[in-house]
Amino acid sequence: MTSAQSFDRPARLRLGVNIDHVATIRNARGGDHPDPVRAAEIVAAVGGDGITAHLREDRRHIRDADVARIQAATNLPLNFEMAATEEMLDFALRHKPHAACIVPEKREERTTEGGLDAAGLHNQLAPIVARLSDAGIRVSLFIEPDARQIEAAMRLNAPVVEFHTGRYAQLDGEARAVELRRLEDAAALAWKNGIEPHAGHGLTYDNVVPIAAIPQLAELNIGHYLIGEAIFTGLDVAVQKMRALMDEARGWS
Ligand code: PXP
Repeated sequence: MTSAQSFDRPARLRLGVNIDHVATIRNARGGDHPDPVRAAEIVAAVGGDGITAHLREDRRHIRDADVARIQAATNLPLNFEMAATEEMLDFALRHKPHAACIVPEKREERTTEGGLDAAGLHNQLAPIVARLSDAGIRVSLFIEPDARQIEAAMRLNAPVVEFHTGRYAQLDGEARAVELRRLEDAAALAWKNGIEPHAGHGLTYDNVVPIAAIPQLAELNIGHYLIGEAIFTGLDVAVQKMRALMDEARGWS
């Protein structure tokens, strides 16, 4: 998006679907059903814009072999979520996903809790961001909607940041409105400084619209809720419904 572009009618917001939890269900029985590749194919067939997958250190959902299979199965860009470790860097450099989103990772957590401390971890992150970028992989940093973290992303030359919407999703009432304003300000600040802002975590049919209406955001990454809904309605219907809500929020419907 160029600075000359107005937000009278913002660009269509991309939907990246995180398919980790298809693998979580598969792994519960140790076989190969349900296959996250089939989920990726459905997302592609119904107009999803990208696939997101997080290869965790403990391989609790997506596994090494899934990544290449997902890449081979669809033409959708893969957003590879990874911890800032040598192991994950090597993996990303071998598989060359379209994008790599660097996330904080703790073994004991159930899901990614809080954003990456891009400011405090500058020295650890700088060579990783540089090597991914040199390999043509678009680096994104999963951060809190916070000016200090955006400035750190600028110093790291990250082209993309993804704002953690987990706190927004958990709050309600005035506290949620305050967090929404923080996300709006952060998206505007990132965009003004030439960083493409994305957002994700904890988004649902009920809370996605105010986030999708933030005009600077280019992409949302949504997983757990969509895979949960897919149990009841099918993944195709769930993705289409989320897409419709996002489009409506942007005046694209
Ligand atoms: N974006 C990032 C960076 C994440 O780590 C996750 C969760 O893996 C998501 C988006 C999707 O979050 P949720 O599964 O809550 O929709």
